Amino acid sequence: MRDKKRILVIGSLNLDMVVSADHVPLAGETILGRNMALVPGGKGANQACAAGRLGADTVMLGALGQDAHGRLLESSLRESGVDVSRLLWRDHKETGLAMITVGDSGENSIVVVPGANATLTLEDLDRNRDLIEGCDGVILQLEIPVETVCHGARLAKSLGKTVILDPAPVPRHFPEELYGYADVIKPNETELGMLTGISDVTNHLEEAAEVIRNRGGKDLVVTLGEKGVFLASKVYGIRRIPAVKVKAVDTTAAGDAFTAALAYQLLEGRGLLEAAEFANLVSAMVVTRKGAQSSIPSMEEVENWRDAAEFLEG
Ligand code: RIB
Repeated sequence: MRDKKRILVIGSLNLDMVVSADHVPLAGETILGRNMALVPGGKGANQACAAGRLGADTVMLGALGQDAHGRLLESSLRESGVDVSRLLWRDHKETGLAMITVGDSGENSIVVVPGANATLTLEDLDRNRDLIEGCDGVILQLEIPVETVCHGARLAKSLGKTVILDPAPVPRHFPEELYGYADVIKPNETELGMLTGISDVTNHLEEAAEVIRNRGGKDLVVTLGEKGVFLASKVYGIRRIPAVKVKAVDTTAAGDAFTAALAYQLLEGRGLLEAAEFANLVSAMVVTRKGAQSSIPSMEEVENWRDAAEFLEG
């Protein structure tokens, strides 16, 4: 018998080209950046990396180009303890790319060129059905084709797996069926606004939670940056978790690490509130460091830091 729960991440892998500047440029504005770094990223790969570094038995299913970027992403995941044996290598597609600008307050703007990520099909999932059958929970996001996400979530649910959905980036047409498959949906506040159509969603979180519930959604966990975390759950009702007091350097991958930490803790048997409190700590550590996978801590680092963490007023 396995002692650790097995997490399958189905999703994207991108090589991030990160430019640091004093602010993120406005439309039509030209600014000077300070430097450029190449960092392993992609929402799916970041989640797999975080789950692996936290100690989960993690496997990733996603597509890469046969190129140097792909190999760099593979080795970053392997070094994080992720099973990379099912990554799919495409001959005629380049590895996904993300152009990221990070401003001095840690804010970012991201443009993704999907490349090989766009080639992950329903058939790829069917061919790797044993991965879904053999895991305890599946994490999905939306940087791969939306039909593939729906198929993966549907299959995982039909096999009795826990399904965690990070609905990022929110597509123009978000498939309603996904609400019914996900055990937990984890948007940030911008994504929650887009999903529900509620403007100023930060001040209407309970109303937004009601909209998600009426569409068939189960547990909802919303990351709110400096305003902490909002939870609407069957067991806990409405809850808030205060943000950890940190100096934000770069928020990239904070949401991805949150999702992975939440999933891992849930699968290990923690309740949603406890899992979200842990995920809140992990994502707070991520924002204090630069880059995507370069910023994701190990379980040991989180444990060592845990008692020193201070919280902002709720
Ligand atoms: O969530 C952060 C990630 O979004 C980056 O690593 C980038 O690749 C984009 O996918």
